[in-house]
Order: sequence, then structure tokens, then C-alpha cells
Amino acid sequence: MAESRTYPQEVKIDSTLYRYERVLKDDFFSINLLYRNEHGQGYVLKISDFRFVGGFVFRPLAGFISRHEYRVYRRVAEIEGIPALGPRWGWRGYFHRYIAGKTLHEVTPHGDLPEDFFARLQELLAKVHEQRVFYVDLNKQGNVICSHDGHPYLIDFQISLAFPTGGGWWANVWTRTFNRLIQEDRYHLYKHKKAFHPHKMTAEELGFATRSQLNERYARYIARPYLRVKRLLYPHGSNEIIWYKWKKMKDKTVQMP
Ligand SMILES: Nc1ncnc2c1ncn2[C@@H]1O[C@H](COP(=O)(O)OP(=O)(O)O)[C@@H](O)[C@H]1O
Ligand SMILES: [Mg+2]
Repeated sequence: MAESRTYPQEVKIDSTLYRYERVLKDDFFSINLLYRNEHGQGYVLKISDFRFVGGFVFRPLAGFISRHEYRVYRRVAEIEGIPALGPRWGWRGYFHRYIAGKTLHEVTPHGDLPEDFFARLQELLAKVHEQRVFYVDLNKQGNVICSHDGHPYLIDFQISLAFPTGGGWWANVWTRTFNRLIQEDRYHLYKHKKAFHPHKMTAEELGFATRSQLNERYARYIARPYLRVKRLLYPHGSNEIIWYKWKKMKDKTVQMP
């Protein structure tokens, strides 16, 4: 757990006071903290870090990752369905609006999601792609929120890639690469739709939900070996913190994908 001195107890954003309420998620690579004002509106402070023994050595890298995330976020922050962006906090943190709701991970299959949820999520993803951002992390259900009023939100741009938008002789190459890569985003979108709303899948969408040859190669040679190595290190899931094991304590944090 982070000590209180590593994050503020209260902050002023746009002349409104927000008080620390609780940890939303706490794992090896970041900590997400909820702050609320007196009207109940919230901000999340996401601090990037390498939260294992000796991790402080990598703090400059954590700072780089956080600034990268903020830069990508700025490109898409005006889109409806992306939580509004707040100020940066220090070298490794930034604020964004808290979305009260449930992540797909917390939603029960065949129940909680409105019928048009995935149509809206598809529009949202298309707008992100219009800004030439390859989202990358859509396989994680913890990155998609269904707000209490039933709207989809996308968070977590830590490993997203913002492609160049200008012209020039290389523009065609970038565009072709980008268009191939975003098929991976679509694949994950329709995979979630298939899991939650199988009855709403069109034939074309069922095709998208099948791995393309490129995706299959990516999964076989990069994603699966990476997961295998990760499981060797953290056998009980990604957010089990190594010092729990060292101290022989049980991880009491909520399991997230
Ligand atoms: N803006 C937000 N509104 C609501 N919940 C959030 C928000 N940001 C983060 N969370 C919660 O914290 C979790 C982790 O946030 P995320 O940005 O995905 O960080 P990580 O890089 O650790 O995956 C989310 O799955 C969600 O439960
Ligand atoms: Mg995430």
C-alpha cells in the first residue's frame, strides 16, 4: 500500500477542493486514487510507478510512461466517452474525471449492459481511431466502464500509441500500418460484444471477432510468451504485489484483469 505521503490528502482543481477517499486499484505499475468534492463529483489520480522492491530505480521510466499516457490522453480527451482530463500531479501522476459505474470486469454477463452499449462503444472507438490513436489495451475488461447511466467510457492510455497526423512521403506507410493495427482493437471490441451480447452479433462482426493472421501471430509469438513469463513471476494474477508474497501476506486487493 502506498503511504499517505506519496499522494496528497486534498487537492484544488479549478478552485474546487477534492478530498482523498480511497484506493481504486493498486498494482505493480500504477496506483489509482479517488478524490471527491463536497458535491460527490470525483477525480482519479493515476500515479505510475514500479511498485516492487528496488522499483524506485525505474522512476524516471515511470515518469516517461506517465507523460506518454497524458500526451495520448490529451489527443482524445474531448471525445464523449473519455473522462475529462485534469491537471498533472508531479512527474508521475495526472488527474482525470471519475466515472461512477462498473467496469466490464464487474458487470454480470447477460444482464447489466444496455442493449446499445456496444454500438456506442464502437462509435467511441471509431472516434479514438479518427484521432489516429491505436488503443491497444482493449482486451482488459477493467479499461471499459459502463457508467451508472449506461454509457461506455474508455480509460487507461498507458500503452496506447498516437500515430503522426501530418502528410509527407511516409504518411501512406503510417496509414497502412495504423489501419492494420487497429484491427486488433476491433477484434477485442467484438470479442467483448460476443461475450456479453452474443444475440446482437452480425455476421460481419463475428468475422471481426475471429483472429486475423496478423493477430494470431501477435498472440502466439508475443502475447502468450509474455503472459507465461509474467505468470512465473506473479502466479496469482497481475495485481498481486510481490511483497505480499515476500511477507507471506495474502493479497487483499480486489482482483482485476
Ligand atoms: N476515471 C475513472 N473512473 C472510474 N474508475 C476508474 C477511473 N480510472 C481508473 N479507474 C479504476 O481503476 C482501475 C485501473 O485504472 P487504469 O487506468 O486501467 O490503470 P492500470 O494501468 O493500472 O490498468 C480501473 O479498472 C477502474 O476500476
Ligand atoms: Mg487498465
